[in-house]
Amino acid sequence: MIERDNQITSSKAVNQDNQLDLTLRPKSLKEYVGQEDTKMNLRVSMQAAKKRKEPVEHVLLYGPPGLGKTTLANIVAREMGVNIKTTSGPAIEKQGDLASILTNLQPNDILFIDEIHRLKTQIEEILYSAMEDYALDIIIGKGPAARSMRLDLPKFTLIGATTKVGSLSAPLRDRFGHIYKLDFYQDDEIQQIVTRSANLLDINVDDAGAGEIAISARKTPRIANRLLKRIRDFATVEGVDKIDLKFTKKCLKTMGVDILGLDKADRQILLTIIDKFNGGPVGVRSIAAATAEEAETIEDLYEPYLLQIGFLDRTNRGRVVTENAYVHLNLEYTENQNKMF
Ligand SMILES: Nc1ncnc2c1ncn2[C@@H]1O[C@H](COP(=O)(O)OP(=O)(O)OP(=O)(O)O)[C@@H](O)[C@H]1O
Ligand SMILES: [Mg+2]
Repeated sequence: MIERDNQITSSKAVNQDNQLDLTLRPKSLKEYVGQEDTKMNLRVSMQAAKKRKEPVEHVLLYGPPGLGKTTLANIVAREMGVNIKTTSGPAIEKQGDLASILTNLQPNDILFIDEIHRLKTQIEEILYSAMEDYALDIIIGKGPAARSMRLDLPKFTLIGATTKVGSLSAPLRDRFGHIYKLDFYQDDEIQQIVTRSANLLDINVDDAGAGEIAISARKTPRIANRLLKRIRDFATVEGVDKIDLKFTKKCLKTMGVDILGLDKADRQILLTIIDKFNGGPVGVRSIAAATAEEAETIEDLYEPYLLQIGFLDRTNRGRVVTENAYVHLNLEYTENQNKMF
């Protein structure tokens, strides 16, 4: 297993994040920083729905962990003034579980299904008629006497979230009126988020400090908030009352987070590809085997950011470490390393 000695730079939520996520989660689109296209589209959908007195069309949100999918779903509920019922793909075990959730919805309510790509097929099938016709087809009785019955459901909005849109079946994907991809944030947007969070948590951090946290946060709000909170802890312990550039740098160094937000685990992945596979191309399964990490974890958690900052390239023959990564790691890059693709 790749060792993350602290979970500081993981974009996935870890235990102590839940409380933090709740306090810092923006409650309106206005407070929600960035993702301008998605916000604009959602605004239009919500206004149209309000005018027609109908629920918002079903929305699918996808993108790497910690970018604000759950936050957006909750904002839509709040701005529409409706209830939101939250569940997740793996949590729905039987058809009956989903049936009871659906029949308990009020008109215009939102059903939020996180990790929707992990729904079982037979459960997914119930969703088709629910999404399309607001109806639930159930089978009553067994054997030859069994008959199917159709129950009407209130009109509702399904908001699905996934980190792996490619794993979603086509019939399910096609039933969403809107599909939005959340992108990694710009550094100045993350800085705004850090400043906003600092205000909410009453932390004194100056612009340069916030800027430094921003560039180390892997373009991910959840990580930015977590770094901020950890740095506050250092400040409390050391009796520092203002978090400035120098102090931030010192803390990040102590935490083993480098200037681009890379930690030991990212470096280990890059170095493995360089040392064992001559820089690539190499398939994700081989990287997984060599690092004793799961292929899925590499694909979901590490790779998106490494691709985003241009340290990895994805080719049809596998992953390749780029020259930029060699430079960052202080390693010599020779042309022929990537001659294969
Ligand atoms: N646009 C934003 N503006 C300000 N803060 C944000 C924004 N997006 C996310 N956050 C902060 O980041 C935290 C994590 O976001 P959220 O839980 O919505 O991510 P997610 O995409 O649902 O992640 P996962 O895939 O792990 O479920 C939120 O609690 C919030 O504090
Ligand atoms: Mg979420």
